[in-house]
Amino acid sequence: MKNILALRQEFDAALAAVSTGDDLDRLSTEYVGKKGVLKELLGELRNVPPETRKTVAADLNSFKTYLEGQLSSVSENLRLQETQRRISDEWQDVSLPGVAERRGARHPLSLIEDKCLDVLNLLGFSFVDGPEVENGFHNFDALNIPEHHPARDMQDTFWLENNLLLRSHTSTVQVRVLEQQKELPIRIASPGRVYRNETVDATHLACFHQFEGLWVDEGVKFSHLKGTLEFIIKNIFGTEWDYRFKPKFYPYTEPSIGVDIRQKGGDGKWITVLGAGMVHRNVLSQTGHDPERLSGFAFGLGISRMVTMAHEVSNMKSLYEGDLRVHQAISRKDYV
Ligand code: DAH
Repeated sequence: MKNILALRQEFDAALAAVSTGDDLDRLSTEYVGKKGVLKELLGELRNVPPETRKTVAADLNSFKTYLEGQLSSVSENLRLQETQRRISDEWQDVSLPGVAERRGARHPLSLIEDKCLDVLNLLGFSFVDGPEVENGFHNFDALNIPEHHPARDMQDTFWLENNLLLRSHTSTVQVRVLEQQKELPIRIASPGRVYRNETVDATHLACFHQFEGLWVDEGVKFSHLKGTLEFIIKNIFGTEWDYRFKPKFYPYTEPSIGVDIRQKGGDGKWITVLGAGMVHRNVLSQTGHDPERLSGFAFGLGISRMVTMAHEVSNMKSLYEGDLRVHQAISRKDYV
């Protein structure tokens, strides 16, 4: 009995010092574990003389109940303390204004490029890319623009070393594809950046975006060109914009046309958004194709201008300046 009383005092002192779940586990193992104090005492019961064994057993039993009761009440306290701690640590004032995440959006020019590619994919065109650093042959000569031709001045570009230049239009990709591909039909779409030595104003920049298309096969006619352009315009702009075809001149197409779209609002000016035509026989023969057997059409969409028109952006420059107000206003709209 005396022994049990002393043990109980020892246990009480150790229990009072417990401050964590680990401390408690250790104490519990020490007293009520498989090799704990209690087990040891119970093991010694058989050495107790039979006349007192019953009383001692009863005492041990109540010591056991005591230990288990104390351990579980401290365990419950620790659990409550932990809950309290978490409530105060993790408490959040849900009435505070939230911090909205700033979300990015695709650039308006990327959106229109994707849209054009989607529309042209429906007609069987596939995407090709072309270099922005070009040579004079791909940018001019192969497109039937010899040196000293006035068309070179109209597309004055930036010359680099070794007679290389920054391409002044995406029509260079036509030449590259015609040189490489001899299998028919040739049906490609190629968006990208182009450069011109321009005086910058609201509608002209030294760097902007175009989107080139080319379809060459046997029996391709002007009516195919017209139908394709109408299909593109209606799918990009929707049906409520007025557009018109007009004759134009490009050395690499014959006949050549342009398409104007009428500005909404303002004074309703007609703005040229693309140039196109039937691929000139010289372009075909320069690139190893037989103009007697094949024909085709090509077009170049001025997609920077198309974006500014469709979204009534007054200055094309703002598309390139990363002005978030412009980008947000455009990306919020369900794009044409
Ligand atoms: N390259 C012309 C320009 O930059 C646009 C153009 C006209 C592209 C006629 C063509 C075309 O493919 O056939 O203004």
